[in-house]
Amino acid sequence: MIGIFDSGYGGLTILNHIRQHLPQYDYLYLGDNARAPYGTRSFDVIYEYTLQAVNYLHQQGCNLIILACNTASAKALRTIQQHDINPDELRVLGVIRPTVEVIPQRTRTKHIGVLATPGTVASESYVIELLKQDPTLTVTQQACPMWVPLIESGEHLHAGADYFVEKYLTELLTRDPLIDTIILGCTHYPLLQPKIEAFLKTTPNIVINTPHHPSTLQGGVGGGLISQGEIVAHSLADYLHRHPEIVERISSPLRGRSGGGFLTTESATKFSESASLFLSKPIEAQHIEL
Ligand code: DGL
Repeated sequence: MIGIFDSGYGGLTILNHIRQHLPQYDYLYLGDNARAPYGTRSFDVIYEYTLQAVNYLHQQGCNLIILACNTASAKALRTIQQHDINPDELRVLGVIRPTVEVIPQRTRTKHIGVLATPGTVASESYVIELLKQDPTLTVTQQACPMWVPLIESGEHLHAGADYFVEKYLTELLTRDPLIDTIILGCTHYPLLQPKIEAFLKTTPNIVINTPHHPSTLQGGVGGGLISQGEIVAHSLADYLHRHPEIVERISSPLRGRSGGGFLTTESATKFSESASLFLSKPIEAQHIEL
C-alpha cells in the first residue's frame, strides 16, 4: 500500500493523478487537517508533525509514502530520509525534485516564478533545486500565506478569494515581468487554479493552454502554469519501474492491514464532505489522532 500525506486537502490533487496513472495499488491518504496550515510553522514543528504522520502510515502497512506537501518535502523530507527510516523497510519521497526536473524544458525566457507557502519559500528549496537543474535560470519566489487557509475553509471558489489571487500574482509578476513559467509549489494551489488561470490570461507572458491545465510534461509549449499532480504521478511510475523490489513490497496484501482509504486528524464528516467535492466522488474518511 502507498501512503499519501499532506497537511490537509492539498495532497488530494496529487492522489487524484497518481491513482489515475497507477490504479493497481491501494492508497491510504492522511490529511493532518487539525494542524493545517503547516506553511507558517517552524522547521522543528513541521518535521515533528511530518514524522508522526510517516510513522503512522508505516504502522498501517504503507511501505512507500509520498509527502504530497511541498512544505513537508522542503522542511522534513531529507532529515526523515537520513535519520528516521530504514530504506529496506520504508521509502519516503517528496514532490519538489520531480517538479523542478521538468522546468528547463518548459521555459523560454528562463525566468521562473514559484508560488508557495511561507515555509517553502523560506527554505529556498525551489531556488536551490532549480539552479541545480540549470544555473542560468532566474527564480523569483512569492509566498501566498492566505491561499491555504482559504482552501482549508472552503472559501477558495468564492469572490473573496479573487483579491488574494490577484494580490500575490501581481506582486510576483511585478518583481519579474519576464517570468513565463509559474510553478504552483503547494499542492493546495491547484484547487485555486480556475481563478489563477483567469487572472494569468490577462497578462502577456504566461501562456495558459487550457481549458484545464495542460500536460505539464510536454516540452516546447513555452512556459505556462505548472501544476504538480501529473508530474508527480509520472515520476512515481518511473520510480516504480526502476525499483521492482518496492513494487513487490507495496503490492503484498499481507503487508497492509487496510485496503487504503482516507484518514484525517480533523472531523471525519467535515473531511468526507470536502474531499468528496475535491475528488468529485463520495468518500468516507476516518478520524485519527497523531
Ligand atoms: N499543501 C502543502 C504544500 O504543498 C502545505 C499547505 C500548508 O499546510 O500550509 O506546501
